[in-house]
Amino acid sequence: MCGIVGFTGTAQAAPILLDGLRRLEYRGYDSAGVAVADAGRIEMVKASGSVANLAGKTSDGAALSGTCGIAHTRWATHGAPTDTNAHPHLSEHGLFAVVHNGIIENFAALRAELEAGGIAFRSETDTEVVAHLLEKYYDGDFKRAVMRTAARLEGSYVLGVLCAREPGRLFCVKEAGPLILGLGVGENYFASDVTALVARTKNVVYMDDGELAELTPERVTVYDRTGREIAKDVSHVVWNVEAAEKGGYEHFMLKEIMEQPRAVKSTIEPRIRGGEIDLGETGLTAGELGDIDKIIITGCGSAYHAAVVGKYVIESLCRIPVEAELASELRYRDAIIDGRTLLIAVSQSGETADTIAAMRECMARGAKCLAIVNVVGSTIARLAGGVLYTRAGPEIAVATTKGYTTQLAALYLFAVWCAEKLGRLDEARYSELVSGLRALPSLAQRAIDLNLHVRYLAERWHGQENLFFIGRNMDYAAAMEGSLKLKEISYIHSEAYAAGELKHGTIALIDEKRLVVALCCQERLFDKMVSNIQEVKARGAKVLGLAIEGDRRIFAEADDVLYSPGCEQLFAALPEIIPLQLFAYYVARENGCAIDKPRNLAKSVTVE
Ligand code: AGP
Repeated sequence: MCGIVGFTGTAQAAPILLDGLRRLEYRGYDSAGVAVADAGRIEMVKASGSVANLAGKTSDGAALSGTCGIAHTRWATHGAPTDTNAHPHLSEHGLFAVVHNGIIENFAALRAELEAGGIAFRSETDTEVVAHLLEKYYDGDFKRAVMRTAARLEGSYVLGVLCAREPGRLFCVKEAGPLILGLGVGENYFASDVTALVARTKNVVYMDDGELAELTPERVTVYDRTGREIAKDVSHVVWNVEAAEKGGYEHFMLKEIMEQPRAVKSTIEPRIRGGEIDLGETGLTAGELGDIDKIIITGCGSAYHAAVVGKYVIESLCRIPVEAELASELRYRDAIIDGRTLLIAVSQSGETADTIAAMRECMARGAKCLAIVNVVGSTIARLAGGVLYTRAGPEIAVATTKGYTTQLAALYLFAVWCAEKLGRLDEARYSELVSGLRALPSLAQRAIDLNLHVRYLAERWHGQENLFFIGRNMDYAAAMEGSLKLKEISYIHSEAYAAGELKHGTIALIDEKRLVVALCCQERLFDKMVSNIQEVKARGAKVLGLAIEGDRRIFAEADDVLYSPGCEQLFAALPEIIPLQLFAYYVARENGCAIDKPRNLAKSVTVE
């Protein structure tokens, strides 16, 4: 996903902008660029490849004078990742420079209109139309040129704009993508997320769709889409720079796996007071919960896998029909939704385009919407009627770990709280479940401690070409997540399969070259899993079993064993994913993969 940064102040802008880009690298990109305004001119440098390439071309920014500028890391959507297509983009006479995150869906018509007016385009990008429109509409009024330009655009566009004739002034626009303002002393910033800013200021403003902001070194002014000045809350970021750094681990992913006990604790503990779960922050009342006759949980990737786990748990406790649906499917499905439907949108980044679109579709049909999100002030958080924040802290690795387990924690909290509000739990069972929730942070730690041998299993299995992850019930949902983790960071093909389905065709693929990871953490289904293990072993497969700590039965069946600590069965999917995260990590490490930034992937998929 693209990243944008803007700075205006009294210090030299380019080095600060490059530092901001480095802190956005985790978002995934393939080119970068920077533009600064100085003495009535715009100086711009762009580079395909890494921010390091850009730094090399600008002596780490020192070669660019000027105290006001914009910068960008590009994730190519229109046009190859070349210097020409990299952002920023200049207007015809170099009066404006613009950086953009998103997709301008009507860019072709705008480009044709501008070309008909004699404009010669330099790049293949959709973004370049913005630069030319700005120059077209500029009559000396910067703000009006920005507003008139934005009014022509359709799609998703977070813009940063620099004008050669407006020293020290920047404008930025937010439409369907993340944008944050940073408030400094004698300097101000905008950026795609907090990570780019946190080293220089912890006072931030979260922009909303349709808003634009004007920045000078002394002042930040936010306007609504009519151009009227509006007041915005200033938030204080509790992260520090270290939290967004690796903390001594080889990869962000391993750091974030190890952070899970604390992240789960931060998500659960503050919501339990005196033995009672308090989710008043969701804005849902007991009466509203009583009116719900269907729940749809939606998300993409790992967030969808969390949705599948949530389906089992909420349905079991609340006795309400629950669907888990891929957001990219839900947005186009003619689903049966009305005012008695609760949509739970799950997302770490809060910026996933398919999830946002599914929310808009369901809310337009009358659904109430609760978001489970990690990024405060993200688009999904502000779009939903209520938000239950996971408190995982910044997640830098593209492959989510603590983002996923804290989504499970939030879904468990909601399930127990909702069941209690609906009168579905007697006091003893409620108390037992609350205790089970409070035990999860230590169980996450236990899951780490029990599986330190996994790095040696990875040495044995890292050369596998095809794996199956099989499980039943919630173990099947965990198998989906375990399979995705391995695929996305090691590039080894694997498939999650409902264990009971194997004999309906897929077992034809099983032979002595296959490794089957068998998840056996649902006690009441253990014997069924043993049958499935025996089926695949009879056809030559090797089996890596995942069982509850102390269950010795697995040794009779599996070639190697991973362990999950015993816990409330409904919550088993949380600790049991941790050995699978570690397995994927160490296999990828054995294979020398780019673990934190896997090929082809971005941390947040803000385009369809
Ligand atoms: C998970 O490891 C992947 N990075 C990906 O599947 C991710 O979960 C998905 O893109 C959804 O992202 P979100 O949670 O930010 O909405």
